[in-house]
Amino acid sequence: MEKILLIDDDEGLNHFLGRFFKRKGYSVTACINGQAALETISAQSFDLILLDYKMPGLNGLDTLKSIKAAQVKTPVILMTAYGSTDTAIEAMKRGAYDYLVKPFDRNELSRIVAEALLLNRQMKEIVSLPNTQEPLREHAPGSGLKLIGHSRLMQEIYKTIGQIAEKDVSVLISGESGTGKELVARAIYHHSRRKDKPFIAINCAAIPENLFESELFGYERGAFTGAERTSIGKIERCDQGTCFLDEIGDMSMGLQAKLLRVLQEGEFERLGGRQTIKADVRVIAATNKDLELEVRNGRFREDLFWRLKVISIHLPPLRKRSEDIHPLIDYFLGRFGAEYGKPIRHVSEGVMQRFAAYSWPGNVRELENCIRRAILLCAGDVVTEDHIELRDHPRASQLQTLDREQRMAGLKAKLQEIIPEVLRLSQEGVHANLIQMVEETIIAKALEQCGNNQVKAARMLGISRNTLRHRMKRLFDKQSDPK
Ligand SMILES: Nc1ncnc2c1ncn2[C@@H]1O[C@H](COP(=O)(O)OP(=O)(O)OP(=O)(O)O)[C@@H](O)[C@H]1O
Ligand SMILES: [Mg+2]
Repeated sequence: MEKILLIDDDEGLNHFLGRFFKRKGYSVTACINGQAALETISAQSFDLILLDYKMPGLNGLDTLKSIKAAQVKTPVILMTAYGSTDTAIEAMKRGAYDYLVKPFDRNELSRIVAEALLLNRQMKEIVSLPNTQEPLREHAPGSGLKLIGHSRLMQEIYKTIGQIAEKDVSVLISGESGTGKELVARAIYHHSRRKDKPFIAINCAAIPENLFESELFGYERGAFTGAERTSIGKIERCDQGTCFLDEIGDMSMGLQAKLLRVLQEGEFERLGGRQTIKADVRVIAATNKDLELEVRNGRFREDLFWRLKVISIHLPPLRKRSEDIHPLIDYFLGRFGAEYGKPIRHVSEGVMQRFAAYSWPGNVRELENCIRRAILLCAGDVVTEDHIELRDHPRASQLQTLDREQRMAGLKAKLQEIIPEVLRLSQEGVHANLIQMVEETIIAKALEQCGNNQVKAARMLGISRNTLRHRMKRLFDKQSDPK
């Protein structure tokens, strides 16, 4: 359960907010002054803190400073009275996550709280690189996430992450859907010097273009109808932190230019604002598009492409690193087994075979969902084929096609050995003799395999029953003709 701390001298408001959050399933603690809050914080950690800006005794700004010193990663939302937004924005520069103006709009309150809690989770849930010495099964709940897989391809990736995480460079991560791009971005963040600063993930494809600019860069009060207060954008909120731009290939050309300016000069303006704002942001971008192709087709700025691609990491699809499937299964069995209280030890041999033959179009995410589902369905301690549902079997059918093609090639080689012999023995009408010989053999064998059932034999050969009769008459009647 996520824990929220309320700090406000207005007990009525604490009561109202307490009920509001408890109904939403959070645990709530309330303090009526800064001093009491600091004592509470020294004894336990919180996922989110709501702090009144104006309180008697220790003021909001000093309390904020002490909170940040004690729990650097916990987001703090300031609550201010109408008209004091400038001071609130000033406080944000000192580490507050956002501010809310009293009286609250419930939707706004819910939205900001949900976003802050997401940030809290992403900052605190550490994504670690694999340690080969450690047994995978011992996965304690709440111990964070881990990058799994020891294939050569993945080891290269861990090496790159290790080399570049601490350097303050941009990174471009590419790869098919579900290969772990976001997980790698988070691993880089957790191993970087910016690990105590915000990590904000933005999906460039999920937000409609007209809203996206204000989401990224914020807006001034009155910038457009409905802009009732100055809003801080994600880039500004991410100052000194790491910004993960997912699906960067979907960003509009106009915004690409503004992003480039942030990367090059570290500055931008809020929508409708004249003041230039400074922000020091490390960008990690991800895409499942071929960005080079997008550049060639004029859909992505070349200068931004090169700026982002200082370091590039390509995540290979799971089908190209099937040796990672086994450790991933163990990891997911351990994780979800603990989550659902089902100590399932392994998957059956049959499941392993199907997994090995499968193409995994949804990559690690698909495997993860498959194991999660299997654990929920499984009553015993072994996952069997009954608990598994895969989308298709392209790999199996591909293997069959390959197998057939290889055999046909073998037969053709045999034929090439036989034919010169036939040529030597034939005297005249070589072509007709050979075709007749082949046809006789095919028809005789087909009839034999179909128990002399002409309908079945015709179907097997892919000819009509009449044609078959006709050929049989021509071939065999002639043969049996004594003349
Ligand atoms: N190597 C890995 N080890 C452990 N878990 C992984 C690994 N790769 C991916 N996952 C898990 O698979 C899921 C998908 O990963 P992620 O969201 O990072 O993929 P993505 O490449 O960003 O996908 P998309 O392009 O669809 O956004 C996540 O739940 C992630 O934790
Ligand atoms: Mg992703």
